[in-house]
Amino acid sequence: MSQYDVIIIGAGPGGYVSAVRCAQLGLKTAIVEGRETLGGTCLNVGCIPSKALLHATHMLHEAEHNFAGMGLKGKSPSVDWKQMLTYKDEVIGQNTGGVEFLMKKNKIDWLKGWASIPAAGKVTVGDTTYDTKNIVIASGSVPSSLPGVNVDNDAGVVVDSTGALELKKTPKKMVVIGAGVIGLELGSVYARLGAEVTVVEYMDAVCPGMDKDVQRSFKKILEKQGLNFIMGAAVKSTEASKTKTKVTYAPKAGGDDVVIDADVVLVATGRKPFAEGLGLDALGVKMTERGQVAVDGQWATNVPGVYAIGDVIEGPMLAHKAEDEGMAVAEVLAGKHGHVNYSVIPGVVYTTPEVATVGQTEDALKAEGRKVKVGKFSFMGNGRAKAVGQAEGFVKLIADAETDRVLGAAIIGPAAGDMIHEICVAMEFGASAQDIALTCHAHPTYSEAVREAALACGDGPIHA
Ligand code: NAI
Repeated sequence: MSQYDVIIIGAGPGGYVSAVRCAQLGLKTAIVEGRETLGGTCLNVGCIPSKALLHATHMLHEAEHNFAGMGLKGKSPSVDWKQMLTYKDEVIGQNTGGVEFLMKKNKIDWLKGWASIPAAGKVTVGDTTYDTKNIVIASGSVPSSLPGVNVDNDAGVVVDSTGALELKKTPKKMVVIGAGVIGLELGSVYARLGAEVTVVEYMDAVCPGMDKDVQRSFKKILEKQGLNFIMGAAVKSTEASKTKTKVTYAPKAGGDDVVIDADVVLVATGRKPFAEGLGLDALGVKMTERGQVAVDGQWATNVPGVYAIGDVIEGPMLAHKAEDEGMAVAEVLAGKHGHVNYSVIPGVVYTTPEVATVGQTEDALKAEGRKVKVGKFSFMGNGRAKAVGQAEGFVKLIADAETDRVLGAAIIGPAAGDMIHEICVAMEFGASAQDIALTCHAHPTYSEAVREAALACGDGPIHA
């Protein structure tokens, strides 16, 4: 008889959420995690710690730049970097401790160590092999490496996103390789702490995959905040000495290589699936060409009883996508129906202002030959945004030209990451732009800008 109905490998947002749902549905559940604390990349070295630093440095920025204008005079706070890191670590501790509490509350066994799968129905952790009816691989992702660039988080000179959360001191000059989500969030942190930050990006725009007008506005806002950009430049190598590093890039347009220097280089050029040590090769688990575990529509691999979710499979590497899959696969294992609507997964960049997107972009829809209407509303016309001095950005709503059905949205603005969910819910219910426009929105709120953008898809917004 199996000891467990399901063993989940990896306690990140995908794995631990899946474990809770499995337990709630009556399955005898265990979770394997080799880190000292639960919560995976997201809670330990990703989403949560970066948000703690973004929040603290945002406060600093407000004090330095906006307090006086609001009549709040006095000396700006000075930075105690060690204390800021302690604050971040306390936030991590509260969150990872919370996950441990959830495991206990739901009677989920935490098998401490790194797992391997010697055969279907068997998971080995340390010296012990456990029998289980099903296995869910939720082993996540790790930063991808860049040829010619040696990341050494301990030395703290050329670092990835993990090392960037533990720098011994704040840099004076920082080069960020990659203008994706990680580069822009952590680049913002250090720019607010006074570093001269230069972002080197291979593409011609920031945040690949967003609409061009959103990319342009976002980049302009970041430039105003002091970030420098070198676009269309492929970083070829870094050469680190004890304190300084030379970064060499090749301009895409041609010409000679260029060398710039920095005291810290952050490599933020993407992440790759992580399944090392699991023994998937020997088990015969099929992988995709991009090194992801291949699954079907119910998250099943080709090996019976072995499932996979989150960053280790196809799709956006987002905690909330992994969570949704975690819940859905639990439903499947409990004999119910599991479903994830991949067309309504929001994405958020937690800079100030935040940038949030959902659904399809205008550029992609037009490239497909779809006829769309676009309603755009600037936060300059939003009373609340003006009252708090955060009127940069806009809401952009994209609807089908004939049916008016909402197909996608992008928001650059205050609390964009929260506001986007109104549009997510609307999309889940197949709403039209007019449905949003006819919904009473409280005044004065940022969300009124969403309604105005919906009005802009029809007879026009009021405050523009
Ligand atoms: P990314 O894929 O978002 O961006 C990487 C950027 O690096 C791309 O724009 C690419 O063109 C550029 N690049 C690659 N090689 C280069 C080179 N040699 N020279 C110059 N530029 C180069 O990757 P990122 O920011 O590292 O994030 C990794 C993953 O983590 C993403 O899937 C992201 O969605 C996820 N993530 C999400 C967060 C959020 O939702 N707020 C926060 C942090 C990470």
